[in-house]
Amino acid sequence: MKIAVFGKTGQVATELQRRAPEGTVLTVFGRDDVDFANPDQVNKIACSLDVDAVINAVAYTAVDKAEDEPELATQVNGHSVAQLAKGCAETSTPLVHISTDYVFEGGGETPWQPNDPTGPKGVYGKSKLVGEDAIQNQTGLAFVILRTSWVFSAHGGNFVKTMLKFGAERPELKVVADQIGGPTPAAAIADACLSIARQLASGTTGGTYHFSGAPDVSWADFAREIMAQAGLPTAIASIPTTDWPTPTERPLNSRMDCSSLIADFGIKRPDWRKGLAEVLKDLAA
Ligand SMILES: NC(=O)c1ccc[n+]([C@@H]2O[C@H](COP(=O)([O-])OP(=O)(O)OC[C@H]3O[C@@H](n4cnc5c(N)ncnc54)[C@H](OP(=O)(O)O)[C@@H]3O)[C@@H](O)[C@H]2O)c1
Repeated sequence: MKIAVFGKTGQVATELQRRAPEGTVLTVFGRDDVDFANPDQVNKIACSLDVDAVINAVAYTAVDKAEDEPELATQVNGHSVAQLAKGCAETSTPLVHISTDYVFEGGGETPWQPNDPTGPKGVYGKSKLVGEDAIQNQTGLAFVILRTSWVFSAHGGNFVKTMLKFGAERPELKVVADQIGGPTPAAAIADACLSIARQLASGTTGGTYHFSGAPDVSWADFAREIMAQAGLPTAIASIPTTDWPTPTERPLNSRMDCSSLIADFGIKRPDWRKGLAEVLKDLAA
């Protein structure tokens, strides 16, 4: 099977390259090959592809910085994704695209269903929604939009690496305890995308799905597990979101209902504690 992957150095893109099974040939497009700030360039490449499926792991992910760069965030996460979808439809190539819980407004305590009304609060979530809408409205396209949350891995910047860095330097860390979600190993997202790509290419019907690690947890409890597994004595003090202001409002409720992905694609929620153990092993190596 031949898969084109957009994104080379990101958390999920890196894991896709590490985890593609034997017999799956990846053609990987990094920033030097195609700039998602330039939608026309994306369309040209997408129209020239001769593969069985496309996985898009490119995104403008700097949530707070996006508030100062709304045009760039929307080009990368919105308009270029639209051109990718158009190219995939033209070449009849199924598209697997990764999105985020930030497309929701983030209130309540009920896990978000894939067909719940969206209502992003910041530029990042809005820009990701532009991409989602373009894919959903593209006629003749077989696609899966996979919304995920709280991604971590051994590479790139993420919460696990931040906690390990500060945990090694300080006896106590204050961490937000009223935001709840599912930490998701990038490796599990890569496996899910590869499986979905294979299934879409064999004719399975797609749509919009949720995929996050289980069990749901607060950032503070996630931090406690990181310290415990890393053998660090750092104490984690719980604080409310109001004590940790950020340029973009963070969702309090990032819980996602992942049951339709299990039913339609046979892909279960990964246990993030096992994924964390793998990442710590990776970092130690
Ligand atoms: N990180 C999270 O916590 C999180 C949570 C929910 C959903 N998601 C979604 O999960 C997906 C994967 O996220 P991730 O954590 O793997 O992201 P990441 O580590 O930030 O990687 C993003 C990738 O996009 C590339 N990229 C950014 N701007 C580009 C441009 N203009 N042209 C070409 N490439 C560009 C980056 O390349 P460079 O390395 O060259 O910059 C990088 O390879 C994204 O769709 C994201 O929205 C992430």
